[in-house]
Amino acid sequence: MKITKAVIPAAGLGTRVLPATKSMPKEMFPIVDKPAIQYIVEEAVKAGITDILIITNRGKGVIEDHFDRSPELETALDKPEKQDILEAVKGISSLANITFIRQIETKGLGHAILRAKNFVGDEPFAVMFGDDVIIGESPAIGELIDAYGEFGKGVVGVKLVPESEIHKYGSLKVENLHDNVFKCTDMVEKPQTPEEVLSCYSILGRCVLPPEIFGILENTKPGKGGEIQLTDAMKEIAVTEGMTAVEYTGTRYDMGNKLGILQASVEVGVNHPEIGEGLKEYLKEFVKTL
Ligand code: UTP
Repeated sequence: MKITKAVIPAAGLGTRVLPATKSMPKEMFPIVDKPAIQYIVEEAVKAGITDILIITNRGKGVIEDHFDRSPELETALDKPEKQDILEAVKGISSLANITFIRQIETKGLGHAILRAKNFVGDEPFAVMFGDDVIIGESPAIGELIDAYGEFGKGVVGVKLVPESEIHKYGSLKVENLHDNVFKCTDMVEKPQTPEEVLSCYSILGRCVLPPEIFGILENTKPGKGGEIQLTDAMKEIAVTEGMTAVEYTGTRYDMGNKLGILQASVEVGVNHPEIGEGLKEYLKEFVKTL
């Protein structure tokens, strides 16, 4: 079955990057000249997604404005020497069919995804975390969609995280199937003791889920942090039917984390056609002073 719908949860409070996120959504933080969420929408479109639901919250209306037309700006840019940027600005609103819904209360990622039940209907769908930008040759969500096609089970996008950090993430029980593809039969959110750690593979930013997740989420009680955890609902699928885990090939930048934001700017910046060379020169000089 072709996967054409994606849900982007972007309603989190972003407390790890306060005060910047007090009135500016972290999903709108720029990486060079594009907001994080636009990279995510472009990744979805590259993977064949046509319909996207962005889950927002109070104070995040600027995300809606970004994907809308901007008549005054477009008129101002309509000059012979500004045609490139005019096309770039106009193109944003026609990337995909993008709709929005608000998560009225910030009760966790699982609670946010449940808001997408009517939009998704009865088909498998992609989930792309609004603060995880993944840059690579192929769209990460496309690699997960391929694995859904191969095994017909829910898929989680994973990476290895350092053992010392695993208590901040989800930990997965995995068994290699081939290449970068694993069978996943259990998971635990933020393991607090070494006994709870199943492996250092963690879900980072992307999933493909069957519509059955909604029935499970409706019965999922608040877990770690008093929030309705998506991991708790996915665990039920993992231990019963099993899931597939794909170690996607791109590099992931956590835009909800101070260091992640800076890494994204530097690494995307050095490859940018306009500023790449200048940034490399600057960095070479700057590191000599460290
Ligand atoms: P995070 O835990 O990374 O985001 O959630 P957060 O809650 O904003 O983080 P901090 O700890 O306060 O800094 C992963 C994704 O789920 C969304 C976030 O926007 C992010 O894209 N999310 C989280 C929601 O949409 N709703 C929620 O209630 C919680």
